[in-house]
Amino acid sequence: MSTSVAVIGTGYVGLTTGACLAHLGHRVTCADIDAAKVAALAEARVPFYEPGLAELVREGVAAGRLRFVLGGAAAVDGADLVFLCVPTPQADDGSADLSYVEAAAGSIAATLRPGAVVVNKSTVPVGSASVVERIIARDDVTVVSNPEFLREGSAVADFLRPDRVIIGTESAEAGRRVAALYHSIDAPVLITDPASAETIKYAANAFLATKISFVNAIAAVCEAVGADIGDVIRGIGSDRRIGPDFLRPGPGWGGSCFPKDTRALVSIAEQGGYDFRLLRGVIASNAEQHDRMVAKVRQALGGSLRGATVAAWGLAFKAGTDDVRDSPAVAIIDVLLAEGATVRAYDPQAVIARQGLVQVGSALAACEGADALVVLTEWSEFLGADLDGVATRLRTPVVVDTRNVLDPPAAAAAGLTLLGVGR
Ligand code: UGA
Repeated sequence: MSTSVAVIGTGYVGLTTGACLAHLGHRVTCADIDAAKVAALAEARVPFYEPGLAELVREGVAAGRLRFVLGGAAAVDGADLVFLCVPTPQADDGSADLSYVEAAAGSIAATLRPGAVVVNKSTVPVGSASVVERIIARDDVTVVSNPEFLREGSAVADFLRPDRVIIGTESAEAGRRVAALYHSIDAPVLITDPASAETIKYAANAFLATKISFVNAIAAVCEAVGADIGDVIRGIGSDRRIGPDFLRPGPGWGGSCFPKDTRALVSIAEQGGYDFRLLRGVIASNAEQHDRMVAKVRQALGGSLRGATVAAWGLAFKAGTDDVRDSPAVAIIDVLLAEGATVRAYDPQAVIARQGLVQVGSALAACEGADALVVLTEWSEFLGADLDGVATRLRTPVVVDTRNVLDPPAAAAAGLTLLGVGR
């Protein structure tokens, strides 16, 4: 069954939602307030890097099932279901800033078709479904929460093969209509009340961030007691109650979601009178993880960063994306620069500009004349890097691997001193 859908906002969530729904056979109109972006998308040019997405946009546009328009009002005319996929950035007090959601809701209220369902996909504080309902102020329109669980870098796969679909609504009929959109996807659908759906989104991200911070803390323990984090992860991950996923130690979690959503959940809890000390502790320990990685680089350089040249592999907050928002790699590089180092950086996709940083075109070029190498993002090309080439280019053959991507025996064979995490 093909449904007429509008998607407001063409960031990675909105565009993935629109392109994937078109791929499933629905007729989709995506709207954005940025005219240049709309023009580019109409020609199937995707303005950011997300594997597989450009292909789906091309497919949808060519099939006539996916089109792009300027402004929400133009998109919703005739749509049965309208997805709100606009950003909810962090306000100064840590809470989520709802102004884009409110503006988007306001812009479509008058043009929504009678009986339309508005679906909130943006990550919004608990209670936002009723805020949107109040702004739209139409008895004939229902607002439903349908949170997304899309990882940047695998957003298309996550959309088409989700672990579950969550739909939060008081209206069984609206819930059925949203669920029908996903009928060709093989995943359990859980229908809840709106507050529970909104809470599920924050709880999932907070739990995953906690899991990573926990493993980072265990990695510190491994270093203290001489244990190996790889073995420890295998040992605990094979317990089905724990599971092997999201147990990779690293420089700390970052990106556009975990930092903002963990702080927002602390703030939501606080407003409800609950001090979420556990999550505050996780956030603090994540900041410490950046410091621990900088300390390793300092140690590799004999105690001081002043005047040193550091090669940095990776800028993106994780592999598979060009996104540097709240990237631990960038946070760590900023400290290296502030402490007087010069940085030669390489990333296959991401770009940043900083005084004291030059960005070069290959991993080996970054090592040229550097006093140490620090690996900050787990790009797969680093796994197979030419370590002999690294050793000949570095002034001192020392590598800090914050993602444990390099193979210790291969590094030793190339004459490199390798400092990893938790081993
Ligand atoms: C995250 C969630 O995984 C998605 O389910 C959610 O929909 C999305 O946020 C969102 O709220 O929109 P994303 O931010 O794209 O997705 O990235 P993740 O793959 O979750 O990684 C987050 C951070 O954790 C990265 O910095 C990554 O390097 C780090 N990480 C992840 C680790 O350090 N270790 C791991 O084992 C896994």
